[in-house]
Amino acid sequence: MHNQLGDEYWMRGALDLAIRGSGRVEPNPMVGCLVVCDGREIGQGWHQRFGGPHAEVNALSALTPEQIGRSDLYVTLEPCAHHGKTPPCLDLLLKLQPKRVIVAMLDPFPEVSGRGVSGLRAAGIRVDVGCLEAEARHVNAPYLKRLETGLPWVIAKWAMTLDGAIATETGDSKWITGEVARQRAHELRSRVDAIVVGSETVLKDDPLLTARLPSGIEIPRVAKRIVIDRRMRIPVASQLVRTASAIRLCLVTTQEEVEAQSGKANQLMRLGVEILALPQDEKLGGIGGWLRHLGQQGATNVLVEGGGSLLGSLFDGGWVDQVDCFIAPRILGSARAARPVAGEGSLWVSRAQQLERVHVEVCGVDIHIQGCFPRKRPPTDHSLGSESP
Ligand SMILES: NC(=O)c1ccc[n+]([C@@H]2O[C@H](COP(=O)([O-])OP(=O)(O)OC[C@H]3O[C@@H](n4cnc5c(N)ncnc54)[C@H](OP(=O)(O)O)[C@@H]3O)[C@@H](O)[C@H]2O)c1
Repeated sequence: MHNQLGDEYWMRGALDLAIRGSGRVEPNPMVGCLVVCDGREIGQGWHQRFGGPHAEVNALSALTPEQIGRSDLYVTLEPCAHHGKTPPCLDLLLKLQPKRVIVAMLDPFPEVSGRGVSGLRAAGIRVDVGCLEAEARHVNAPYLKRLETGLPWVIAKWAMTLDGAIATETGDSKWITGEVARQRAHELRSRVDAIVVGSETVLKDDPLLTARLPSGIEIPRVAKRIVIDRRMRIPVASQLVRTASAIRLCLVTTQEEVEAQSGKANQLMRLGVEILALPQDEKLGGIGGWLRHLGQQGATNVLVEGGGSLLGSLFDGGWVDQVDCFIAPRILGSARAARPVAGEGSLWVSRAQQLERVHVEVCGVDIHIQGCFPRKRPPTDHSLGSESP
């Protein structure tokens, strides 16, 4: 008889392995796998890069069939049953016949969706499903959201003073947090598919929006930089445009603006800027328009870095899934300083959007708070005229 505590212990180890794939495997899910024989770990693996071998293959590769036949296999997601970029893990497991397979959660991917587990069971292999399922769902929440809604996971990030300012009233914002927190923010950037800012932030800060990690540390993923700029105010001389031929830059604007400023639009495109011209009709061109476009392009994680107006609209519409807030122990004062989240907000404290799975980390002298919102139903776009969640 296998005790549940034992299973959870090993599955936690497999989940720790899974998250090593963050930023490297998307739009695939992160998956980890541990092989345990007679109460001892004898193999481990994780999905390391998009298109590469799956976690099960990596965990089993150095083991003999005899060892595998006596082992329990802990895997954070149902083994795949289809030919994708690699052959089905189901076939490998049917060949090697582990004693038992413990699966944290089924894979809702249509071509797998229960077939991995039923295939193993049909061959007489014992399969237990659901060990640490909530944790496994949390680890792969961005993958699951995109699969279910077509939308990427939206992370809102900002740095603020202890009295809640992201910039002075004149727009000065460099730097609110210290070196360690800024390094952490660069690490966040290095794992997402897109980094988004509002046009005003470009005009005031002239940011580069790249992930800058210490030398020797590999950047898992180079994000597309995106400016939400309906009036196409981005300066041609901005750092973003000047680097557009080397690092992808997309301007989200309206078809009407592209026609009205066709000279500037052509100049931007010649400089390497991609222009996403959405219909001015708010119903199609609101936040849902560009988020859906990013999802269709394969984006799993999108980091929105502000400013307050853009983030306010995102929070009002219930589009945000995760918050990464960096707090510096300094007071700026002034009622006119810029705040991280503007928009309509809530009139009731009891209706404030409550984060879950809150994680607090000290970054040098600053504090990093990370949390996620429970996902009850697909977000609504205020511009669609519907109420927010
Ligand atoms: N400390 C930090 O972490 C941090 C991070 C970022 C920015 N900041 C600071 O924030 C300040 C800028 O913030 P901000 O609030 O003034 O501007 P913002 O949010 O950067 O940009 C606002 C602009 O975005 C465009 N936009 C497009 N769609 C929108 C939507 N659905 N909702 C809202 N805006 C939309 C609008 O211009 P169009 O109508 O032309 O599209 C709007 O004027 C700067 O001072 C910057 O330094 C601080």
